[in-house]
Amino acid sequence: MIKKGIILAGGFGTRLSPLTKAVNKQLLPIYDKPMIFYPLSIMMLANIKKILMIVNPGQIENFRTLLGNGSKYGINISYKIQKKPKGLADAFIVGKNFIKRDNVALILGDNFFYGQSLTIKLEKSLKHKNGARIFLKEVRKPENYGVAKIKNNIIQKIVEKPKRYISNLAITGLYFFDNNVCKYANKLKPSKRGEIEITDLLNIYRKKNQLSHERIGRGAIWSDAGKMEDLINLSNYVESIEKVQGIKIACLEEIALFKNWIDKKKIKNNIKFYGNCEYSNYLKKL
Ligand code: G1P
Repeated sequence: MIKKGIILAGGFGTRLSPLTKAVNKQLLPIYDKPMIFYPLSIMMLANIKKILMIVNPGQIENFRTLLGNGSKYGINISYKIQKKPKGLADAFIVGKNFIKRDNVALILGDNFFYGQSLTIKLEKSLKHKNGARIFLKEVRKPENYGVAKIKNNIIQKIVEKPKRYISNLAITGLYFFDNNVCKYANKLKPSKRGEIEITDLLNIYRKKNQLSHERIGRGAIWSDAGKMEDLINLSNYVESIEKVQGIKIACLEEIALFKNWIDKKKIKNNIKFYGNCEYSNYLKKL
């Protein structure tokens, strides 16, 4: 069982500048919550309680002010600085001492997932002992993502931001790896954009026939929030669902309470911490 997870919340978020000049991208809002709540909720839904948050220099305090050491959500969050954004695969170099000899999940701090079948698929992926596992989703503009080409349900090819069309299946920012990932990450050479690419890492597994995948079906949504239009689209999406259905997406306390990781007392303290706001009103109803 995979019990550890890394959330990569570094990077300069240049495409969102000037919003990101003083504030980390992952602390910007998606509707009524900071962006980081959404990937964190996915880790929690996957029953991962030991989390390493990788952030930019100078940002740990901001994240700590919001999330603390995770105990208010019944989890354990530790932090580590990534001095320079060297690429996604760098998470396994920065996070080496956290991973130790265990298998690990990685989620990107700006990735949004929502949909009913997700939890089952997550739980299935946690049982994965050997190799790597990725989540794929159809997208309109595959040239913006890492893309996988599939034949007979086997991944034939993986290309980072393909200039020529190979498939419309984007590799989402949620990955499950066996413990070899640290060793492989150390072998990677920077790409043309000067980063060690997660897709190069995945290709190492693919060549060894150790890369499996899960498709996020039509009933679920995935998007990253790297651009202004994503922030707006996702905010509108969350608002619609929450307004019509009266439930909240990525309410960390709700997930933790459901899993019996926290009690009512903790929720009361969290209400005090957030203050008089809509999120607190929702917590009161729980
Ligand atoms: C990164 C990865 C890419 C993946 C995407 C998902 O892209 O390199 O393979 O599809 O995240 O969000 P980037 O955000 O660095 O452009």
